[in-house]
Amino acid sequence: MVVKKICCVGAGYVGGPTCSVIALKCPEIHVTVVDLSKSRIDQWNSDKLPIYEPGLDEIVKQCRGRNLFFSTDIETAILEADLIFISVNTPTKTIGNGKGRAPDLKYVEGAARMIAEIAQSDKIVVEKSTVPVRAAESILKILSANQKPGVSYQILSNPEFLAEGTAINDLINADRVLIGGEESPKGKAAIEELCGIYEHWIPREKIFTTNTWSSELSKLAANAMLAQRISSINSLSAVCEATGADVSEVATAVGLDSRIGSKFLQASIGFGGSCFQKDILNLVYICECLNLPEVAAYWQQVVDMNEYQKSRFTAKVIQSLFNTVSGKTVTILGFAFKKNTGDTRETPAIHVAKTLLDEGATLKIYDPKVEEDQIYYDLTHPAVCESPETVKKAISVYHDAYSACENSHAIVLCTEWDEFKTLDYHKIYHVMMKPAYVFDGRKILDHQTLIDIGFHVQTIGKTLQRPLLTRFCGGNTCMH
Ligand code: UDX
Ligand code: ADP
Repeated sequence: MVVKKICCVGAGYVGGPTCSVIALKCPEIHVTVVDLSKSRIDQWNSDKLPIYEPGLDEIVKQCRGRNLFFSTDIETAILEADLIFISVNTPTKTIGNGKGRAPDLKYVEGAARMIAEIAQSDKIVVEKSTVPVRAAESILKILSANQKPGVSYQILSNPEFLAEGTAINDLINADRVLIGGEESPKGKAAIEELCGIYEHWIPREKIFTTNTWSSELSKLAANAMLAQRISSINSLSAVCEATGADVSEVATAVGLDSRIGSKFLQASIGFGGSCFQKDILNLVYICECLNLPEVAAYWQQVVDMNEYQKSRFTAKVIQSLFNTVSGKTVTILGFAFKKNTGDTRETPAIHVAKTLLDEGATLKIYDPKVEEDQIYYDLTHPAVCESPETVKKAISVYHDAYSACENSHAIVLCTEWDEFKTLDYHKIYHVMMKPAYVFDGRKILDHQTLIDIGFHVQTIGKTLQRPLLTRFCGGNTCMH
């Protein structure tokens, strides 16, 4: 079989960009991305794509209608495809056994059942969604139990390593492509088919083939180890604040060791995103199920440290504002879980906003790419809010940073958007309540300039000298 037609089930953050790049690089392959959600597919077919990802618009414009199609006609796309990617969501279970930790595989299972029902010819089915180890086995069980005569399946694991905000570059210049499959001749042939697709633009030596379970576990392990680095540096940021060390200097010094390297050592308000927490909790759950409690506890600590960091930062905000934010206005700059995305899944901004709202603050929120409805949805979701009406009254969403800062007591910077670095903070200072505070949860601002303007500034992993209020101290140096 030479793959001529691909169907991707799930038009989300993974399926959309991945298939757009495949369509770009493999013009002879017909790629159809399908989704149950008509509104999502309509957006993919419109001028305003459902996700913001630098470089994606151009690729979609170039390929859409040529060899890239977005459709709700799942049946035709599956019938015609030689190879099917499963790129559906795998949220953490909210009820039942494994609640709060195990991934909910109902969408993966749903996709597998759909394929089994529709397929009339042999298919290579590729799991792209991050799934628990041995999920391929479950997909195979569903497919084999419902197999039509003469139809056979090969299941491959091909986890996605793209990071949001840099997805297109990550896909085009991937560090590696990982493909796991059965070690049988048919399994090997299926692996070769998928390798052939990636080889259109990825050098063969960067395509790593393994058995299915290694591939599935590698995805969880990669995310767990990246998150572990962030939790490690964040734990040290607390030590820095208590000792006078500067966590950026520590990270640079440590990262210069070529055995350690500099990436993912940026101390922050905490990591967010749809993957890190979910994948570690998934790993923890697997370890518990395998009766490996010490291993489970080890990885659980990475998530616990992240919770600690978010709480520690928010507590610092409240404490600095004379231990009460009740009746005060706080500006949240940035709501996405990182810059260059509009995605808010597990964003630390939700934790900060919820805590400040619980303490009685009024919030003015601005993010360059997060839609207003999404912010309201996130902050009134039953998981974080008991009284949506009260919350709606206490928040307002702005379309520029300057209006969001007017009459505010404090700015809390939650996302490292570049535009926040170049705002006119003199102008902002003059429209804020005094004393005016800036809490830089991403360590991106020029703190000395802010202090010189008159702001009280706090950040992560470094204790900053506040303005010297000599005029109140009769000329003696007095630190406040
Ligand atoms: C991650 C993985 O990087 C990617 O390989 C995988 O496919 C999906 O999960 P993503 O969550 O999109 O990607 O973004 P990433 O850049 O990893 O950032 C995750 C979170 O960690 C963000 O909130 C980011 O701000 C934070 N982070 C990252 C830090 O706090 N410090 C760092 O040094 C790096
Ligand atoms: P990810 O970040 O993993 O890409 P998203 O939530 O952004 O996750 O996207 C997953 C998409 O999968 C959603 O748009 C959802 O509607 C779609 N989906 C889930 N189950 C099915 C299914 N059985 N058939 C088609 N699409 C599905």
